[in-house]
Amino acid sequence: MRLIFLGPPSSGKGTQAQKLVQDLNIVQLSTGDMLRAAVAAGTKVGLQAKAAMESGKLVADELIVGIIRDRIKEDDCKAGYLLDGFPRTVVQAEKLDEMLKQRNETIDYVVSLIVKDEVLIQRAVGRRVHMPSGRTYHIEFNPPKVPGKDDVTGEDLIHRKDDTEETVRERLNAYHNQTAPLIDYYKDTGKLRTVDGIGDIDSIYSNIKAAVS
Ligand code: AP5
Ligand code: MG
Repeated sequence: MRLIFLGPPSSGKGTQAQKLVQDLNIVQLSTGDMLRAAVAAGTKVGLQAKAAMESGKLVADELIVGIIRDRIKEDDCKAGYLLDGFPRTVVQAEKLDEMLKQRNETIDYVVSLIVKDEVLIQRAVGRRVHMPSGRTYHIEFNPPKVPGKDDVTGEDLIHRKDDTEETVRERLNAYHNQTAPLIDYYKDTGKLRTVDGIGDIDSIYSNIKAAVS
């Protein structure tokens, strides 16, 4: 199974992806998580991505395409993967099509999560993340058992630098201008499944499961 999760910032891609990859026994490839790890480690990729990420803009297509091209060649991707946050521009989608063609692979479904902008800002500003695992909480809607601590490891949660209202508005602009056109791009393939991203996390998950089976 190869899947794409398409959705605006804070629509729940990461939250739902973590559940689905466990159920389907495939890997989650979150380009946001990969870039944040690269920034934290101070790698060349991290240095190139940092400024764009912190200001809420997309990083360069070539950079992100290179990361995915290398990552999907790894052994753990053989059983399938869920692309969380990639592609995010038409150029990235075209490059992905080329890569898949060369590998004789196809995408099974593209899940598009729909959430209104006002809700997205509230979700982002209250989000807390456990960096090593990518586990995500919300101070109000999905709180950890102990405030500020990861449920599994007890380690500290962080507030992402790009989760301020101002930067989320920038990220929303990037989404509407550069990523939303992908909905039409994938509509033509017959693989697009649209899911309402508002409601409780488990009901949304049931709808996603039904959409991809
Ligand atoms: P990335 O990390 O992918 O950020 P994003 O797309 O803005 O998405 P988020 O991770 O913010 O949200 P999400 O949809 O995963 O929601 P989550 O489940 O966490 O990318 C960051 C940056 O990296 C980009 O801005 C860009 O610079 C760069 N980048 C990454 N990929 C790129 C690419 N392909 N090309 C170019 N640049 C790229 O949920 C959000 C919050 O809501 C949480 O607090 C959660 O607990 C809560 N929540 C979830 N579901 C619900 C619900 N049903 N009800 C109430 N609350 C909920
Ligand atoms: Mg995410």
